[in-house]
Amino acid sequence: MRLKLAILLMTAAAWPALADIEDDIATGRALAELNCASCHAIGSTGESPFKEAPPFRAIHVNYEQGELEDAFNDGIVVAHPAMPDWDMNAEQAKALAAYIMQFGKAKELQ
Ligand code: HEC
Repeated sequence: MRLKLAILLMTAAAWPALADIEDDIATGRALAELNCASCHAIGSTGESPFKEAPPFRAIHVNYEQGELEDAFNDGIVVAHPAMPDWDMNAEQAKALAAYIMQFGKAKELQ
């Protein structure tokens, strides 16, 4: 009986977190379409319009989600001058990091 209650409580706690992540991914995708797609391939296929810019689906291998979020919050520093120094807010940084990292998670689930 006590175990069942614990499981119920755990499931209840997990739901909002999942919904949050999905919200972030959707927001991140919309932000990427507006701000990043002119250079980066942001979908699961296709080449980047700016050929030096890595496709988003390839970026997750180099980062942890938190690292990427921090990088966006700090104003990402990359060697390439074409990469704009966009001052995004914390919500946007979180959403974009979640969007980019979901490519890695999609692979794990296959
Ligand atoms: C004007 C073109 C351009 C735009 C717009 C652009 N990027 Fe980039 N980005 C680049 C280029 C070029 C590189 C590769 C830099 C290098 O190799 O040093 C890069 C690199 C990156 C990297 C590092 C990849 C790695 O593997 O280290 C990340 C992360 C990134 N961009 C995210 C974004 C995000 C998020 C946006 C939209 C908010 C964005 N970029 C918009 C051109 C762009």
